[in-house]
Formats: sequence, structure tokens, C-alpha cells
Amino acid sequence: MKHLVAPSLLAADFMDLRAAVELVDSSDADWMHIDIMDGVFVPNISYGFSVVAPVGKVSKKPLDVHLMIVNPEKYIERFRDAGAENITVHVEACTHLHSTVHQIKETGARAGVALNPHTPVSFLEDILEDLDQVLVMSVNPGFGGQKFIYRSLHKIRQLKAEIVSRNLPTLIEVDGGIGLQNAEAVLKAGADVLVAGSSVFKADDPASVITKLKTIGLDTMIV
Ligand code: DX5
Ligand code: ZN
Repeated sequence: MKHLVAPSLLAADFMDLRAAVELVDSSDADWMHIDIMDGVFVPNISYGFSVVAPVGKVSKKPLDVHLMIVNPEKYIERFRDAGAENITVHVEACTHLHSTVHQIKETGARAGVALNPHTPVSFLEDILEDLDQVLVMSVNPGFGGQKFIYRSLHKIRQLKAEIVSRNLPTLIEVDGGIGLQNAEAVLKAGADVLVAGSSVFKADDPASVITKLKTIGLDTMIV
């Protein structure tokens, strides 16, 4: 499968969100990544339904909603109603992860689980079969523009081996500090989806960065 690219709206100019959505719509991007932060699970607050719903109405790309919030089970249906195609919750934020994953699936959304940098792949041992995607955090969640944690490559490789050995269609999404300088290494480690915030929206030509992220490594990736 050709890898997917999901620009993160967090790095866009919030005074001009419509332009950011239209830019992503007319680009080679596959998904629009939406980061929800509650100031409790992570030390930052982003935006909520009043922003996601209008973005969902306008966006032609599926919304990939990353919930960095405690008690995400309280809000799954509302994010689905706001237009989420994919809903990802953090393993560290869910006491009843199995139940929350199935709650997501019952809404018709694809279900994802995110792992913080210190959380081992083994935490997914008994839930991996139920997941459409796993989000590997390659920075500590809460802020855009941080440095990629290189140890994440090891985790991506481990997760990929597990997914392949179980013959699952589960996608590996990698989020944090991704740009043209490391995208190829991330893909080679086994990533299927690249999330990119700052490297896209802080660039002079965001659409061309998206195109490059989408085509990067294609010649070297064919094995
Ligand atoms: C961080 C978020 C990321 C963030 C990535 O907590 O989950 O999606 O927007 O931003 P960059 O690509 O700038 O690291
Ligand atoms: Zn994210």
C-alpha cells in the first residue's frame, strides 16, 4: 500500500482556517489530522466541537481525530457527528480501552489507539486485532513543532513485525516531528501514515511539502 499523509491542522493559521482546509483539500494529502487537547491529559488546550464541526462540513478529506483527552468515551459520538472518520484514543487515557475501541467502531468510525513515547507496544497485545490503526507518538503529545524522538523508529519496527506476524490490516500512523528530513526513515521502519504539522504549515509552499511527503522514498521503497 502506498503510504498516506495527514497534515495536522494544529500548525495552521487559526485566523484563516478555511484557507488551511482548502489547501489540504486541493493537495495530495489523504486525511486531515485534528488534534484535540484538554489541558488535563496533555498540558495544552487546542479546540473542540465548535471548530471541528465546521471544518468537517467543508473538508473533502476524511477527518482523522486524535483525542488527547481524559475520559474520551464521553465524547466519541459527538466527534463522529462532527465529521470524524477516524477516532484515536490514548491507551494511557483509557481504563476500559476494549470498551472504548468498540464504542468507536459502533459509530462507524475507524478505531485507533495512540501510544505515548514511553508506552511499550506490548500494551496492545490483547487489543491489536480490534484496531484499524495504531498511532505511535514520536514526540510527547501536547505541542506541535517538537523534535522527533528517534527511539520511535524502534517501536515502529516492533509494531510492524507484530502486525505482519498476525497478518493484520492495521495501519501504523506516526505523529510528531515528521518532515522531509526523516520521513523516509519513518516509512522504512514500517509507517503507513505520516502526520505532519509544522513541516507542512510553516513551509513557504505547504502543498509542495505534502506532495514531497507523499512521494518520498517511493523508488527506494519498492522491494
Ligand atoms: C502533538 C500532536 C501532533 C502535532 C504534530 O501532540 O499530536 O499531531 O500537531 O505537529 P508537528 O508535526 O509540528 O510535530
Ligand atoms: Zn496528533
